[in-house]
Amino acid sequence: MDRIGIIGIGYVGLVTAVGFAELGYKVTGVDKDGERISLLRNGISPIFEPGVDELLKKNVSKGNLFFSDKLEDVVDKTDIIFICVGTPSLEDGRADLTQVEEVSRNIAMNLNSYRLIVEKSTVPVKTAQWIKRTIKLYNRKRVDFDVASNPEFLKEGNALNDFFHPDRIVIGVESERAREKLRRLYERFGVPLIETDINTAEIIKHASNAFLAMKISFINMIADLCEKTGADIEKVSMGVGLDRRIGTEFLKAGIGYGGSCFPKDVKAFYRIGEEHGLNFGLLREVDRINEERVEKFMNRLKEALWLFREKKIGILGASFKPETDDIREAPSLKIIERLLKEGAIVKVHDPKAISNLKKHFGDRDGLKYCEEPYEVARDAEALLLLTEWEEYKGIDLKRLKELMKTPIFLDGRNLFFPEKMKEAGFEYHSIGRKN
Ligand code: UGA
Repeated sequence: MDRIGIIGIGYVGLVTAVGFAELGYKVTGVDKDGERISLLRNGISPIFEPGVDELLKKNVSKGNLFFSDKLEDVVDKTDIIFICVGTPSLEDGRADLTQVEEVSRNIAMNLNSYRLIVEKSTVPVKTAQWIKRTIKLYNRKRVDFDVASNPEFLKEGNALNDFFHPDRIVIGVESERAREKLRRLYERFGVPLIETDINTAEIIKHASNAFLAMKISFINMIADLCEKTGADIEKVSMGVGLDRRIGTEFLKAGIGYGGSCFPKDVKAFYRIGEEHGLNFGLLREVDRINEERVEKFMNRLKEALWLFREKKIGILGASFKPETDDIREAPSLKIIERLLKEGAIVKVHDPKAISNLKKHFGDRDGLKYCEEPYEVARDAEALLLLTEWEEYKGIDLKRLKELMKTPIFLDGRNLFFPEKMKEAGFEYHSIGRKN
């Protein structure tokens, strides 16, 4: 069995490490954040992701999973090395490949015998060619190596399930040896294995995320029309999505997509198109529609409250989606910032993301972090639901309403039914439905 190395223990790196260890592989993970490594060595996950804690503890104590802050440990002791470092956005939307470049140089300088280096981070097409060139340049001992691309499609909040039961696996290779190694690694998953050249694999990843983001912006655009005409976006979404050529998933209207992937990948992808002289205006529109969602939502709140100054506003849900503590690019960040700037007093609850919120906002005047959802409702003049956590579904609406000063409820994720909210006594506003 090949030994597996993972460079960069973020979401993708951690889930990949834990997943392969659970399948019986010896896995070594490396990250330059020493604090993160010591947590991991003790079997403690630095992020909240359902199921990860358990598999991490189990495989660390079984001896399948090792962590180190030295890159040479991975290059020395493993056969297949996955690069899972971050590729954040630059100011102009392009992907910042600093970490990928640095890792490539460091792999090269520590290379003593053949290794397969697999790019898993989401990267612009042709990045693997740069990785290959960089390794060649810095690989003084002239050791043989291969580079491949194996994009990751896991969703936060459902990441382990996506790892063990993917819809498909994509491998971009340019040598028989790399193909064989990756085939062997993935054949047990029993799902379609798409084998391509490396550029194609890189484009598959960006195109997948861009397409999913496009579905979301598309349905959000239609939601605006539903609002203007008194139609119902939930029914439109069902009516459209049940056409199997379209599909119901990623057709849920709301305050827009967030997270560390869609916003950054859509921008990076249209920049790539434009760098190649193509008009990727379609994706610029996808991005624009998404950027406008928060603005539209704030306008709705303005229409309901007039001014925000000294108003108490409660927020339910701050993570960019349920089942994660991740707040990167979450609509909640912009909304809280805006409310505070306009003088509102904001109380926020989230089942998992409060500690990340505290890191982001710190002790800010007018911002209070709450332990339980009813606390945000006390004396509130409006409640905003920004993340559709399961636990909010069963909330006692009557109690919530009674705690509030004025029962205005803006549902940014259409979690509740308008009739029920009316029955409970709320002035209820939701997305793309008769309000
Ligand atoms: C996304 C992709 O779904 C994964 O396939 C991909 O591997 C990952 O990016 C990545 O590139 O690493 P993720 O960002 O974790 O996964 O979460 P999603 O479930 O895709 O949600 C993204 C955003 O879209 C969330 O803010 C969510 O609330 C929003 N969304 C999703 C909608 O507004 N409507 C929908 O119908 C679906």
